[in-house]
Amino acid sequence: MTPDDSASASAPLPGHPFIAYSGASLTVDGVACEALAADFSTPLYVYSQASMLDALAGWQRALAGRDHLLCYAMKANSNLAVLQTLRAAGCGFDIVSGGELARALAVGADPARIVFSGVGKTRDELGEALRAGVGCFNVESESELEQLSAVAGALGRTAAISVRVNPDVDAGTHPYISTGLKGNKFGVAHGRALDVYRRAASLPGLRVAGIDCHIGSQITEIAPYLDALDRLLDLVEQIESAGIAVPHLDLGGGLGIRYADESPPPAEALVGALLERIDQRGHGHRRLMFEPGRSLVGNAGVLLTRVTVLKGPAHEAAGDTAGPTDGRKDFCIVDAAMNDLMRPALYDAWMDIVPVTRQPGRKPVPHDVVGPVCESGDWLGRDRPLAVAEGELLAVLSAGAYGMSMASNYNTRPRPAEVMVVQGRAQLVRERETVASLFERERLLG
Ligand code: LLP
Repeated sequence: MTPDDSASASAPLPGHPFIAYSGASLTVDGVACEALAADFSTPLYVYSQASMLDALAGWQRALAGRDHLLCYAMKANSNLAVLQTLRAAGCGFDIVSGGELARALAVGADPARIVFSGVGKTRDELGEALRAGVGCFNVESESELEQLSAVAGALGRTAAISVRVNPDVDAGTHPYISTGLKGNKFGVAHGRALDVYRRAASLPGLRVAGIDCHIGSQITEIAPYLDALDRLLDLVEQIESAGIAVPHLDLGGGLGIRYADESPPPAEALVGALLERIDQRGHGHRRLMFEPGRSLVGNAGVLLTRVTVLKGPAHEAAGDTAGPTDGRKDFCIVDAAMNDLMRPALYDAWMDIVPVTRQPGRKPVPHDVVGPVCESGDWLGRDRPLAVAEGELLAVLSAGAYGMSMASNYNTRPRPAEVMVVQGRAQLVRERETVASLFERERLLG
C-alpha cells in the first residue's frame, strides 16, 4: 500500500476489515483516529471490538457442529476489555502464567475453559491453577509431569493433562517465533511422547485429557499444520493402542495475519483442511481445541503516534540540500518507541505505517520511522515513503497483537493508553501510565 495513496473511498485497508480512510482521514470502525489522538493523546493503542469478533467468527463458523473449544492465547493482548469481549463471545483462554490466570478469572472466565501452557510453570503456579480448577495443563516436560502430580496430590486434586509434543516440523516462520523444531525448548520430543503418556497414566493426581502441539507463530501456510497433525495422530494411535485414551486434540495457535503482502489462509480454510484430514484418518470424534492469539486481535489494532522531529537531507535548509547527502538518511522521529512496540526491534518485523490524514498534494520521501529511545535498534519502520509534517499523526497497523502486551518502561517511558471502539464509540480501556507510578515501588537507601 502506498501511504499517501489519495483514493478517497472508505474501503477497508487490505487485511484490516474495520480500518479505513474516510476521505483523507483514517478511521477505526468509523471513528476518526485524529479525534482519538486529540482526546486520549499519543502514543495510543486503538482496537476495534468488531474486528476481533469478526475474526473469531471465522474460527467459530469453521468449527460449528463439532465438539470444540477455542482458547484465546492472551499473551497476544491481555487487556481486560479484550478478554471480556472474547469471553462473552464464547472463548476460553490459553494462559502461560499465574498473572494470566488472574486476568482470566478477573473477567469471569470459566476455569474449565482455560488451558495452562508454558515450559517453566512454577510449583506455586501449578497450585494456583489447580485450586482455580483449570481445565487442562499442557505439560511440556517429564519433570513438570512429576511436579504436577506431587502438587495435585498435596492439594487432593486431580489435574487434567495434555502433553505438548514437539512434532519437529518447520513452520517456515521467524526463528524466534518458530517453536516446533527439535532445537526449540518447547514440548516433549516426539520420540519420547509414548513413554511420557505411560508415565502420566501411572502417576497419581493426573488424568490424561488430550494431546497438544504449537509449532510457531505468524504461519501463512496450511502444510506445516497438516504435517504436525499427522505426527500427532500417529502418536494418538500408538498411545491409545497402549490403552490410554486421548480425548482431545489441541493444535495450538500460530495462524498468521497480513502485515505487508502476506496472504495467510482464512481460519475457515485452515480448519477445513485440518478437519478433512482428521476425518479421513478416523479421528472425527475427538474434541478439537485451538489456541489462536494473533489471528483474533492483530489486525484489530493500530498504534497512533505523533511526529516529533523530522531530520535529514530532505529537511535541511535549501542551501544545504544542493550538496551531496553523503548517504545520510531522512528520519521521522515519533513519540512511540521500541518500548511501546517491540516487534520491529526484536524480530526485524515489518509493520505498515500510514498517515492518519492523507496529504495527496505532498511528495512522499523515504524515511526511517524511529522513536526517541537511546538505541539504534529503536525503529518502527525503515525506508518508508512518507509525506508527513512535524506535529502530524501516523498509525502503525496490525498492532493489536504483541504490541501493548510486550511493552516495557525502558527509558522511564510510561506505557501508552488503550482505547477500544465498541459500536462506533471509543472507550478508554487502560489509562496511560504516569511517570510517578513507574518508580513508586523503588526505595532510596536508608
Ligand atoms: N499457544 C502457545 C503455546 C503459544 O506459545 C502461542 C504463542 C500461541 C498459542 C499463540 O500463537 P499466535 O496464534 O498468536 O501465533 N511475540 C511474537 C509472537 C510470540 C508467540 C508466542 N507463542 C510476535 O510478536 O510475533
